[in-house]
Amino acid sequence: MAKIPNKTKQEIECLVRILNHHCYFYYVKDSPIISDEEYDQLYKKLKDLEEQHNFILPDSPTQRVGAPPLEKFVRIKHKEPMLSLGNVFSKDEVRLFNKRTKKALKTKENITYTVEPKYDGLAIELTYKDGFLVKASTRGDGNYGEDVTQNIKTINEIPLKLEIEYPPEEIDIRGEVYMDIKEFESLNKKREEEGEDKFANPRNATAGSIRQLDSSITAKRKLHIACYGIGAVKGITFKTQCDLFKWLRTSRFPTPQGAKLAKGTKEVNKAINEIQSLRNELPFEVDGAVIKVNDFSLQKQLGVKTREPHWATAFKFPAKRKTTKLINIEASVGRQGAITPVANLEPVEIAGATVSNASLHNWDEIQRKDIRIGDTVEVERAGDVIPHVIAIITEKRNGSETPYYYSQRCPACGSLIIREEDEVAFKCININCNAQAIEKIKNFASKAAMDIEGLGEKNVELLYSSGLINHFVDLYTLKKEDILKLPRFAKKSAQNLINAIENSKTTTLYKFIYSLGIKDVGEYAARLLAKHYETINDLCKATERELKKIEQVGDKVASSISSFFSNQDNIEAINSIINLGLKLQNPDFTLPAKERTSELLSDRISFVVTGTFPEDRKIVKNYIESLGGRNVGSISKSTDYLVVGENPGPSKLNKAKKLGIKTISYNELMKLTKDELNTK
Ligand code: IVH
Repeated sequence: MAKIPNKTKQEIECLVRILNHHCYFYYVKDSPIISDEEYDQLYKKLKDLEEQHNFILPDSPTQRVGAPPLEKFVRIKHKEPMLSLGNVFSKDEVRLFNKRTKKALKTKENITYTVEPKYDGLAIELTYKDGFLVKASTRGDGNYGEDVTQNIKTINEIPLKLEIEYPPEEIDIRGEVYMDIKEFESLNKKREEEGEDKFANPRNATAGSIRQLDSSITAKRKLHIACYGIGAVKGITFKTQCDLFKWLRTSRFPTPQGAKLAKGTKEVNKAINEIQSLRNELPFEVDGAVIKVNDFSLQKQLGVKTREPHWATAFKFPAKRKTTKLINIEASVGRQGAITPVANLEPVEIAGATVSNASLHNWDEIQRKDIRIGDTVEVERAGDVIPHVIAIITEKRNGSETPYYYSQRCPACGSLIIREEDEVAFKCININCNAQAIEKIKNFASKAAMDIEGLGEKNVELLYSSGLINHFVDLYTLKKEDILKLPRFAKKSAQNLINAIENSKTTTLYKFIYSLGIKDVGEYAARLLAKHYETINDLCKATERELKKIEQVGDKVASSISSFFSNQDNIEAINSIINLGLKLQNPDFTLPAKERTSELLSDRISFVVTGTFPEDRKIVKNYIESLGGRNVGSISKSTDYLVVGENPGPSKLNKAKKLGIKTISYNELMKLTKDELNTK
């Protein structure tokens, strides 16, 4: 092998370092510094150099993919057994756990615990030697696991090398690999389309993705990790779980979101409540909270009982699955005319909500699973998605169950329904179908769209059936007097609705795009489009070819968008809303990443953000950055603005008042322009 010139070696080392750095900002911090194109260019340069000189560093990002498929998994012994956790199901049991812990430690003092979300995925051990990831294994039976190194390397969040000054000689890091609920759903959709078996839940999908002999398949699944513990270590010690988290974060590992320190049971229970109330908003499955004694020397003192430590336990949240009776099957008409089956259920409480309807996916599934009226079914509620029937329990049948036959007509307008080739759904193609019109308005008014407070599904139906609105544009010409004529409305509520409709005129580009109800354009696609187009007019003018060039916009979506905007009625509807006073601001990442980074270097106006906002706080912060502002965590003399949302932190407000710092509302922030900021 020809010797590699020193200069090239250095260039390769430099490229690896730069690319790994950007990987961290992209995957872990979720805020890329360079554009995808710039990343791809650097990656290609590195790959070419590696191939030319046959010189590959172990932490090169090119090593994440491309290993040949395995014949079978190799068994690996864990240096320290990977333990499991005992469970508690009530706050009383938490108290008992604390009491036992105090007794074992012979102390009357309050004990400090960490309370962490319990991710529902697959436990993995990552072995680093001299800072390099050398092995990754599954938990297996706790003593022996399977070598899944090649698959784990495809998870971009996992560092291949510890970017710290003094990496320990050896460290086994443990964490949970998981898949987001949305990713799981789209994976299942794809599998269904391709005639493959669906995964039962995100945990099974994760396990199925990690236990793959061909790592190129794992690479296609978007997996994540949250690291929460260690096994064997050499060359480093940690005093507490908190210290460990700090070290893990410095070493660029993702750690459990919302983990908290809590002293005594009162604080522990509060922390559990906080995690539990977040549960339905988190994009991934959390099935409980893990309570751990924070101090490692106390953990050691408490020890382990067979497979479970005495120093930790899991508070299990109520199941997100329950069984109940299927009372009836109804056909529901969507905003694009798709007719889907909905199960009417005997009401059942699942994870804090009463569920009486659930999705049955599609008509084929009813036949395939032979679902009958009167069956006992298992229902799951995951994230904020509509609950769905996941299985029937045939053992519970008593013979009174009746098969279901679907109608050939639209349940709303009575038109004959059709089934397009290669589509699972039936469709009502009557463009005057009332149900579709109502669904479009419901979508338009919903929280994720124009967010018209007080205009829920029932009120949309009422306004529509009374003839006051036929289309969402009509909302903006509604008069208080008209609304007052409706049942359910009095002076105050009518005025509130008028105000909410008026307020909805100021929104963001992506919300407006989403509210239009374009086929195949959900929230995610709407955000992508808002990132690419400055104005709604630019989007209207985009050609199908141009749309297809946007990363992640496929042929189907591009064709739906272009057919939507080629319909003159839709253009007129948009123009009417603009003429009626629509104001679009775009708090998304409108500026190219490059432009934003150059500003990061300049001396910029600083903002502190407090309270909750109509937007995710991250988006508010991104907006500030896109204006050229700088986000800081706490108020000081040099802070320029305090942006105040709902329920702001009182201490921040007081401090701002005391220091004479300007406070502005969300709406005021949205009205600020880059120029105004720079001339401040
Ligand atoms: S600690 C001895 N922390 O839950 C401590 N586990 O039911 C062992 N899990 O096998 C684990 N999130 O796969 C810990 N924040 C967290 C966790 C967590 C999820 C999983 C892990 C473990 C299982 C035990």
